[in-house]
Amino acid sequence: MSQALWSSIDGYFNDALMGSDPELGAALERARAASLDAGLPDIAVAANQGRLLSLLVLAMGARNVLEIGTLGGYSAICLARALPAGGRLVTLEADAKHAAVARANIVASKPACEVEVVEGAALLTVPGVIATSPEAFDLVFIDADKQNIPAYVEHAIGATRSGGVIVVDNVVRDGRVLEESDDPSVAGVRRLVEMLRGDRRVQAAALQTVGEKGHDGFLVAVVR
Ligand code: SAH
Ligand code: DHB
Ligand code: MG
Repeated sequence: MSQALWSSIDGYFNDALMGSDPELGAALERARAASLDAGLPDIAVAANQGRLLSLLVLAMGARNVLEIGTLGGYSAICLARALPAGGRLVTLEADAKHAAVARANIVASKPACEVEVVEGAALLTVPGVIATSPEAFDLVFIDADKQNIPAYVEHAIGATRSGGVIVVDNVVRDGRVLEESDDPSVAGVRRLVEMLRGDRRVQAAALQTVGEKGHDGFLVAVVR
């Protein structure tokens, strides 16, 4: 199996299943192009992964969503566009330039819900965001610095309603997750896995993915 084949297969399905929403597709492409023009790294979720985030919000009837790691706002737009008026997305971003690009992209996407981009290192901002949230979160998407994944998941478990969902991006990294490496991003995922071993607060599964963004994966946890 090769990258070219994975990308072609993503293209085949995306063309059929996401072509039905050209307005959103155009908005997301504008957001991606603006992010790349501003020199942001090309590490947003893939188009079909963004669609999966939208579908999760829709399927759950989520109203209150937290994202950690905004970049240029691509996944935030996917989450926000599935939320109803009166719903709320809070997304946390450490880099001021990324936050500025994201704010512009999110405003241009005209979401029905309220969206707040909170600037600052998430470990410092997340306690205040949780304390001031009017409701428990339905869904938390964790996609920032990987060494702090266990701490983010710990916060998320405390702030998510019973039956709520936590999604962690990039848990496979081309298979590097199996290496006992010094790479802090791999170590962060491995510490999360050890934290969740036998943890009765959540039920979790990790899904490997291949596609236009290579070989990676999500960890999905439901809070009891
Ligand atoms: N979720 C985005 C991609 C996020 S990339 C999407 O799919 O569109 C990871 C982002 O996390 C980067 O923008 C990076 O600046 C941010 N980040 C890194 N360390 C962080 C920290 N400590 N707190 C908050 N954000 C952080
Ligand atoms: C990186 C970060 C991500 O969130 C991602 O989806 C892919 C790559 C990175 O830091 O390299
Ligand atoms: Mg990611």
